[in-house]
Amino acid sequence: MTAVSWLDGRWLTHRQARVSVDDRAFLFADGVYEVVSVYRGQFVDADLHLARLRRSLAGLSMRLPLSQAALSVLARELIRRNAIAHGMLYLQVTRGAAPRWHGFPDPAVKSTLLLTAKHLPAPSAIPRRSDHIKTTNDLRWGRCDWKTTGLLANCLALQGALDDGFDGPWLVAGDPDDKQTVVREGASSNAWIITQDGVLVTHPESPQILGGCTRAAILQIASDLQIQSEERTFTIGEALTAREAFNSSSSSYLRPVLSLNGTAIGNGTIGPVTRRLHEAFVARLERGVGLSAGLV
Ligand code: PDD
Repeated sequence: MTAVSWLDGRWLTHRQARVSVDDRAFLFADGVYEVVSVYRGQFVDADLHLARLRRSLAGLSMRLPLSQAALSVLARELIRRNAIAHGMLYLQVTRGAAPRWHGFPDPAVKSTLLLTAKHLPAPSAIPRRSDHIKTTNDLRWGRCDWKTTGLLANCLALQGALDDGFDGPWLVAGDPDDKQTVVREGASSNAWIITQDGVLVTHPESPQILGGCTRAAILQIASDLQIQSEERTFTIGEALTAREAFNSSSSSYLRPVLSLNGTAIGNGTIGPVTRRLHEAFVARLERGVGLSAGLV
């Protein structure tokens, strides 16, 4: 089946969809995006994603080029046209195409809106994949809480980890070999540990991390399961002595982290708390909680 995308007011095959060489996302990474998971044809935690999209747009002094209701209609239609049962919606808004100049163009310049969709396998109750992680100095800018398309530092960190034989990086606030260094998050995921006392810990929301929608859902699930959680910084040293660790994102929900810099975390297998949280995450979707047919 040919993938169909929405670009600037038209349905196009994905291969036909083209943007201008003057598009400011191409020239300056001047755009924001969202990745929304689709489960049984419905959007997961769409309200959280829309709220974050609004925050990212506001951060860049940009506006949604259409109403939320109209965006929702397009998103539904995209999922229908691509017959997505499980997968994801990718949504990007850029400041549009204008002659290259660092200052913002005339506000009358139309922003570029792109919607694409992708099929993914249905999530299983037990995570299929897990990660061996390497710590990497976080080279990103000071507003990682805005989901902008400026992801070069994330790409470099991931590729560096892959080149060294790891599955991904944890971006850390300084020397990646110093156990006192604070862990921020993954290249495209939030980072979590479960301490020796059984407490679930993740970095607090701040400009240094992206406040994940999956992260928010996991904190709620942990509270429902009466698993104690703390939103606070943790160090590489604390992660190395943790019982369990995992990453979270809309594309893979919970993904166990089995080792850090070559040292096994816990006994180096998927831990019971990670397993329980993942099962509860999938069970929540099975019950239809957090799912919606549209984005609003
Ligand atoms: N990334 N941190 C970063 C840097 C991310 O890029 C992401 C998501 C997350 C997790 O956010 P959420 O739970 O809302 O997906 C945390 C998406 C999946 C991506 O860029 O593909």
